[in-house]
Amino acid sequence: MRVCMIGAGYVGLVSGACFADFGHRVTCIDRDVHRVAALKRGEIPIYEPGLADLVEANVRGGRLHFAAETSSVGDADAVFIAVGTPSRRGDGFADLSYVYEAVREIAPRLAATAVVITKSTVPVGTGDEIERILRELRPEADLQVASNPEFLREGAAIQDFKHPDRIVVGSDDARAQAVLAEIYRPLYLNAAPILYVSRRTAELIKYAANAFLATKITFINEIADLCERVGADVQEVARGMGLDNRIGGKFLHPGPGFGGSCLPKDTLALIKTAHDNGAQLRIVEAVTAVNDQRKRAMARKVVAALGGSARGKTVAVLGLAFKPNTDDTRDSPAIPLITALQDLGARVRAYDPAGMEQVKPVLPDVSYCNDAYGAADGADALVIATEWEQFRALDLARLKRLMTAAVIVDLRNVYRADEMKRADFRYIAIGRGTVE
Ligand code: UGA
Repeated sequence: MRVCMIGAGYVGLVSGACFADFGHRVTCIDRDVHRVAALKRGEIPIYEPGLADLVEANVRGGRLHFAAETSSVGDADAVFIAVGTPSRRGDGFADLSYVYEAVREIAPRLAATAVVITKSTVPVGTGDEIERILRELRPEADLQVASNPEFLREGAAIQDFKHPDRIVVGSDDARAQAVLAEIYRPLYLNAAPILYVSRRTAELIKYAANAFLATKITFINEIADLCERVGADVQEVARGMGLDNRIGGKFLHPGPGFGGSCLPKDTLALIKTAHDNGAQLRIVEAVTAVNDQRKRAMARKVVAALGGSARGKTVAVLGLAFKPNTDDTRDSPAIPLITALQDLGARVRAYDPAGMEQVKPVLPDVSYCNDAYGAADGADALVIATEWEQFRALDLARLKRLMTAAVIVDLRNVYRADEMKRADFRYIAIGRGTVE
């Protein structure tokens, strides 16, 4: 199959490289000429484990190409739209201007029987509007519009792409279904189920799935707060719940609240869709409100660990990315945490293995360090905000020597209470008792 990805950002690049790896001939098109030039030189603009090797192998194999203009669209059987859909300022609705611009730009060049597929997360009905635009601009052509949402997690995107739980194909048209079945055929070996549904259903599946994941996280976060009040251990509660197959153990890790470029934005956009259509999603509304409040609650937790006041204290923050294995700091819970601590008079020293450059413009008054120990130097408390692998086995004796006070606030429940007790740290985790 000849495939074009419009947008060489996170989704476009990962999907394009994986499709090429399946054996398809793929061109990733991005209007950012600098990005395209960098990709052609073999430089990957995003941090995603395994992506650089995958891109390189497929470029070398002649299956993956990059372009800044849309001329190659004419050869493609399938054109995926994978441009950004940021939250629109003011109302939280997904900003679809990039999607529609891309459609208008490619329309004159599309082969007459091409299938145009949205991979970007787009609200219900976006496919209908794309179809309308294409009909208007190419009345003579037999173009099809399908939805094929992605379910990739940053940091595990290639694994998720190659071993999906399911593939969702949103189209009632037999030709569009056949093209997508052929594109995903290499995954038959992994027995990945393909779900054929209507386009609107596919668009909603993506939002409903992300909103449910956000709900699961928020639910366990609130249970964690209750655990702290009643003297229960949330890790064990989560395990005890998750072993029930109807519930499942994944996404029951309590933490500082969900962040990133997807769950916060998609929950807001779903609420907006519901309002616009006269429906209410009270659970999802509660999830977004609880998650927002949680960010302030985390700052209060750190202040309590500092003895009730942050003024004049130094706090070491480990982890700035919204989760490990990514340099993405969008909506990262670490950012409002740091801002709140600074507002309360604390000095912040921070370290993240990948995300420091990204936050420097928004957090200029932080001392950025070269590693966890550098950040801990002279700190009155150390906060683990992201569970990077390298923060899971810190040399506690060394930390203790470096820090002014032996206090760790573990917002990701990385450590066990007994090891902290042995190392003689005051240890505050989430939903588990404090080690004094
Ligand atoms: C999420 C979904 O998991 C993907 O399926 C989806 O494709 C993607 O959004 C998207 O829409 O593109 P992602 O944003 O990469 O993926 O990250 P997640 O792994 O879902 O984590 C989101 C946030 O929830 C992070 O801040 C993470 O730390 C937090 N989280 C996750 C928890 O606090 N507890 C958990 O148990 C799981």
